[in-house]
Amino acid sequence: VISRLEVTLPKDASDRSYSIVVDPDPGAADRFAAELCARLPSGRIGVVTDDTVSRLHLGRFAGALRARGRRVAAAVVPDGEGSKSLERAAEVCESFAREGLDRGAVIVALGGGVVGDLGGFVASIFLRGVAYVQVPTTLLAQVDSSVGGKTGVNLPAGKNLVGTFWQPRLVYVDVTALQTLSDRDRAAGLAEVVKHALIADAELLTLLERRAADARAGDPALLAELVLRSCAIKARVVGDDERELTGARALLNFGHTVGHAIESASHKSHPLRHGEAVALGMLAALRIGRGVNPQGGAAALEPRVAALLQALALPTNLDAWLSAETLARVAVDKKRGGDTLGFVVVDTPGTARLVPLPPLRIHEILLGKNEK
Ligand SMILES: NC(=O)c1ccc[n+]([C@@H]2O[C@H](COP(=O)([O-])OP(=O)(O)OC[C@H]3O[C@@H](n4cnc5c(N)ncnc54)[C@H](O)[C@@H]3O)[C@@H](O)[C@H]2O)c1
Ligand SMILES: [Zn+2]
Repeated sequence: VISRLEVTLPKDASDRSYSIVVDPDPGAADRFAAELCARLPSGRIGVVTDDTVSRLHLGRFAGALRARGRRVAAAVVPDGEGSKSLERAAEVCESFAREGLDRGAVIVALGGGVVGDLGGFVASIFLRGVAYVQVPTTLLAQVDSSVGGKTGVNLPAGKNLVGTFWQPRLVYVDVTALQTLSDRDRAAGLAEVVKHALIADAELLTLLERRAADARAGDPALLAELVLRSCAIKARVVGDDERELTGARALLNFGHTVGHAIESASHKSHPLRHGEAVALGMLAALRIGRGVNPQGGAAALEPRVAALLQALALPTNLDAWLSAETLARVAVDKKRGGDTLGFVVVDTPGTARLVPLPPLRIHEILLGKNEK
């Protein structure tokens, strides 16, 4: 059954609301092309994708669009986080300019979170902004990064330090695309599902616990359900707080403050996937929650979440990743306001809250000798 969710955003000068289509059936590329042609501008189409996804999935999506008479140009970037750079964004813009894309163009980000963040960023700056569509192909992108309109690239100084809020006009989730995904990338996506469960959906947490082995093995029907439930949570939160102003959307950063620091540090030796770093970051956040409120529920939740992450084949060796040098990266977290940062803690599954915390306190709790 194909499901349709709506991201309803406040109307200002224009209506930026859009649909997320979760399509679990074979033949999704044709239905995607029909939807795009019915709802979006009729100019040339610029697909942003990476080497692996272009090999596995570009043909059927580009083919379906061409079969409807559309002109399609593809910008293929190398796999991996390294493609989220200003240099790469400039190259993609240059190639689309040469292909003759104009204000009526549609950019399609076909791939994982890297391609989604890069493609969305390009769409927001090319010709001062053109329409774009997300076609997420990793579990992480399907459950998280494709929805919400946060785009961006990295700087040497840190992750996602340059970017825009630029909402897609459509998110089309072809769940069958996950069949070619590696076990490692499937697990990385499951980390963000665990995050959604912890901050907003206690029932989803027990579902994950009950069916961890099936999730890990990539059971198609289960993945479709996890994608749908995650998108519903993300759509609701983003609709309430598009630009992370009220604090509602900030709750989605659960596990990301320390997670980003670990992810950046990991790129020097053993690069972690974003989702893997988030798994470690969630354990760090639970430990910090326990440090801030020893009587709260985080103490009991920490081993429960560690067991689930382990069952999902995600890393749990937090201490091996913690060092003063790594945690120093927390201080440049862009979400910091003043001397404290808004840190997301979860005491009870399904509810999260923001506590103001000086970065130094995070260091103390995570590295403190008597806190282990
Ligand atoms: N904008 C947001 O709100 C948001 C949210 C979460 C994460 N992110 C960003 O997302 C990025 C991580 O995304 P990711 O984990 O999807 O990584 P990714 O985009 O690098 O994809 C991981 C690997 O999977 C391959 N791949 C993609 N789809 C495939 C498929 N169907 N079959 C086989 N291989 C496939 C890719 O080529 C790549 O090698 C990070 O940069 C992170 O910052 C953004
Ligand atoms: Zn994330």
